[in-house]
Amino acid sequence: MAYSDKVIDHYSNPRNVGTLDKSKKNVGTGLVGAPECGDVMRLQIEVDEATNTITDAKFKTFGCGSAIASSSLATEWLKGKTVDEALAIDNMEIVEELALPPVKIHCSVLAEDAIKSAINDYRVKNGLPELEIAKSHH
Ligand code: FES
Repeated sequence: MAYSDKVIDHYSNPRNVGTLDKSKKNVGTGLVGAPECGDVMRLQIEVDEATNTITDAKFKTFGCGSAIASSSLATEWLKGKTVDEALAIDNMEIVEELALPPVKIHCSVLAEDAIKSAINDYRVKNGLPELEIAKSHH
């Protein structure tokens, strides 16, 4: 299977690989796995509580090139967004940006799920109700 240039770029040069301090109240951690292939993605956000804006995002993905590229791209998009804007990120935007083929769409779903799971972790830590994140997978 041929990867697009953008996938290869993010795969060979992943942005924002790393770990944020989980013990901080304003850090949300999402950990998700893809049932299709067993790949695992961890994505973390750091939120400025005063403005509800994501100031930092990091990921670690044990998975295929498309999953790594999807999470790398997601962390780039997350920085500077409000939590509400981050919630609106749809996996199909990642598919378009990276030109993922149909068999790799679930890799982008993993990134969307990881974002939502990180936001939920942040919400629960801050006494907010958990949001329904189950989506109809494209
Ligand atoms: Fe499963 Fe990419 S092949 S996450």
